[in-house]
Amino acid sequence: MNLNSISCAIRILNLNHKIIPSTLNIFRFCRNNFTSIMNKPSVYITRQVNEEALDILREHCEITSWTGEGPVPRDELLRKIEDKNALFCMLTDQINSEVLNKAGKKLQIVATMSVGYDHLDVDEIKKRKIKMAYTPDILTDATAELTVALLLATSRRILEANEAAKNGEWKAWSPFWLCGTGLQNSTVGIVGFGRIGQEIAKRLKSFKPKNIVYYNRSEKADEAKLVDAKRVTFDKLLAKSDFVIVSCSLTQDTQHLFNENAFNKMKRTAIFVNTSRGGVVDQDALIKALENKIILGAGLDVMTPEPLPLHNPLFKLKNCVILPHIGSACIQTRKEMAILCAKNIIAALRGEELPSELII
Ligand code: GLV
Repeated sequence: MNLNSISCAIRILNLNHKIIPSTLNIFRFCRNNFTSIMNKPSVYITRQVNEEALDILREHCEITSWTGEGPVPRDELLRKIEDKNALFCMLTDQINSEVLNKAGKKLQIVATMSVGYDHLDVDEIKKRKIKMAYTPDILTDATAELTVALLLATSRRILEANEAAKNGEWKAWSPFWLCGTGLQNSTVGIVGFGRIGQEIAKRLKSFKPKNIVYYNRSEKADEAKLVDAKRVTFDKLLAKSDFVIVSCSLTQDTQHLFNENAFNKMKRTAIFVNTSRGGVVDQDALIKALENKIILGAGLDVMTPEPLPLHNPLFKLKNCVILPHIGSACIQTRKEMAILCAKNIIAALRGEELPSELII
């Protein structure tokens, strides 16, 4: 018997009014004292996380975790996941059949500390009836904020200007030196009008753009009304936007959505910003578009691969600002993401409703 089956039994007993209350109480006692009367379930964590998240898990689980530098090495993950009941992973861990086979039948939940889940082989996980959880919502504001920062850094050439100030290029104030593109009276195009896309729009509204347009699978009429945004086709967004912001998830449909064809349809003065996933962009096509001035500039928080090798041409381009995937990197946000991940795991192990189950 595990915690899951005790919780199940409680639910059945609760539904069955004929059952004698003492039986129900015995099961309740078992659930509430589960961790002290049974072996604790086991969780593997692929990175060092905050104490608050660990405390939540410790109460109910035996924790094993990777505490080395960077992502857990693949062979270590494959060794340590064996017979675990739960996996607490990051977007840097590819969770596919290789990992799931190693984990075996005891694995009940894969909880990722991210909103993106393109690193999870969803079909394989579902096939094995393992629950999935992720951490949406709590990182929305942090990611929207970073997107605005990256947009401004790119459009107002902030890194170039900082470099110029430091290296002696700054001789005197000059009327047209280091001029960039302003948001005022511009058209902002947002690809993917989910929670993060909407929050980006709200923040950018205060910069007084003339239009905000969005491209999204479904109409988001109520949300769009809040920022006076209009739904348009992908091609129209590309043609009209001074700023093209990518905020959609990476799926089969969005893989390489931004290819040579798409960049050719954009304004020669357009600024392209991506804080979603590198796979949404055909990166070679982007490099060509930046080198050949098909578009004016790009701000990238995500790319392929990550980390981007130092010899990559993107690093040489003055009109490209590159960040190391820090969209949600606010201290409190990351702590809350880890806590939510822990709570998802505990709920799954207890057979309770998950605070943020990933249901696809
Ligand atoms: C960050 O990219 C995330 O998916 O949380």
